[in-house]
Amino acid sequence: MPRALSMPPVIASGSLGGSPQPVLPATGGLLLRPWEEADAPAFLSAYQDDEIRRWHTRRPGVEPQVRKWFHAYRQDWKQEKGGHWAIARDGVEVLGRIALRELDFDDGTAGAAYWVLPAARGAGVASHSLSALTTWALDEIGFHRLELDHSTRNPASCRVAIKSGYLLEGTKRSAAVHDDGRHDMHLHARIRGD
Ligand SMILES: CC(C)(COP(=O)(O)OP(=O)(O)OC[C@H]1O[C@@H](n2cnc3c(N)ncnc32)[C@H](O)[C@@H]1OP(=O)(O)O)[C@@H](O)C(=O)NCCC(=O)NCCS
Repeated sequence: MPRALSMPPVIASGSLGGSPQPVLPATGGLLLRPWEEADAPAFLSAYQDDEIRRWHTRRPGVEPQVRKWFHAYRQDWKQEKGGHWAIARDGVEVLGRIALRELDFDDGTAGAAYWVLPAARGAGVASHSLSALTTWALDEIGFHRLELDHSTRNPASCRVAIKSGYLLEGTKRSAAVHDDGRHDMHLHARIRGD
């Protein structure tokens, strides 16, 4: 049920779901592209990695579940609930994942999330991808504010946020449950004009 707004929404309905999900180029020969059925093994393998398991508590267990997630991702795009991209080298080899979630067209806000496969880390894959996604979301689609949060015990993610222009706004105390208990979470955001 749409909210009755005194102002027009920041982003008009149909701005995303009315068109196919775009392929976005990023620095370093990276392409952010929609997930394909053939990516299911690579996607599943990511959740065998201890670091990804440490920071992502929602995990697929078998390939059919991954394919259900991919289906849900396509629905998210059509229903303008989120966008989910594979980060691929030359558009083929999957290196990671990046997503925009919690889309709010009325206020023009969204949240970013990502992981990178172990073999591809430390080469700018996350920060180049986040920068490309951010430029598209702010400059082409018209979002005003993009947020991301990460555990205060995850300094690599903090660095990705800072390198991509997401300022640290504060610490949300005891805000998320991980396998080893509750963690404080850093809140970062980048707004148009930063
Ligand atoms: C966090 C993650 C996405 C980073 O991906 P990446 O492609 O290696 O990121 P980048 O290469 O763009 O940048 C990583 C930065 O973190 C730094 N870094 C890595 N490990 C670090 C650590 N333990 N402490 C501090 N900084 C660290 C790197 O030096 C680099 O910064 P620099 O370029 O200034 O040297 C990846 O490590 C990952 O997938 N981790 C597991 C899942 C995860 O943490 N997801 C995010 C949840 S919020």
